[in-house]
Amino acid sequence: MPERGRFITLEGLDGSGKSTQLRRLAVRLRAHGRTVLETVEPGGTEIGRSIREILLDSANQRLSPTAELLLYFASRAQNVDELILPALARGEIVLADRFTDSTLAYQGCGRGLGAEVVDQLDRIACRGVRPDLTLFLDIDLETSLARARSRNLAQSSTETRMDDQAFEFHRKVYDAYQCLAVREQERIKPIDGRGAIDQIEQEIWRVVSAYV
Ligand code: ADP
Ligand code: TYD
Repeated sequence: MPERGRFITLEGLDGSGKSTQLRRLAVRLRAHGRTVLETVEPGGTEIGRSIREILLDSANQRLSPTAELLLYFASRAQNVDELILPALARGEIVLADRFTDSTLAYQGCGRGLGAEVVDQLDRIACRGVRPDLTLFLDIDLETSLARARSRNLAQSSTETRMDDQAFEFHRKVYDAYQCLAVREQERIKPIDGRGAIDQIEQEIWRVVSAYV
């Protein structure tokens, strides 16, 4: 039986550089002979991508906070069953762009639904799958939102329902991430997201290479 793999997540505000760094980390891990599964939330699977469209479409302004919460977990449950658990069982490294910490920050705190309901749903949807290591790309709110908005404009993206939330919403999300990072120092490693892309890549590699 292969050794159980490692589950590494990247977390942080919209535009904090998660996707950029996830791609680079996957390249480095593969160059070191590791098999890597890259995934993203919401999305990751074909069914997850349909759910993602509902969640992020800027036209869906009437989506209720509870429906939003359940849809994020529906996408995650599919991802866990279809991709993440099988890859971990094969001994691979799974890299996920966001996971349940995002739900704690955005729905638990940003929407004010609370951590308890998020933890309950996590137990149902994730079936015990928890990240071994989480890289929290820490960056100030103004810079991250500016980056996310210029990226959305450049791509003419309509996936902006969450990015378009009020500044106060994103502030709550940022505060929640800070609290999580303090509370779970063993698992969550803050990475300064304000430097150059190459420099951040090196810092992430320093943390991950000591770990895998
Ligand atoms: P996220 O996945 O966290 O939303 P992205 O990786 O998509 O973030 O980055 C958002 C935008 O900022 C992209 O246009 C990306 O090229 C740019 N970007 C990413 N990292 C940096 C960085 N360290 N410095 C400047 N721009 C960056
Ligand atoms: P995405 O474009 O993937 O993120 P980013 O802008 O960081 O590249 O959009 C996902 C959006 O969904 C983002 O605004 C965060 C939000 N989100 C939640 O509100 N709850 C969740 O559980 C997850 C996974 C994401």
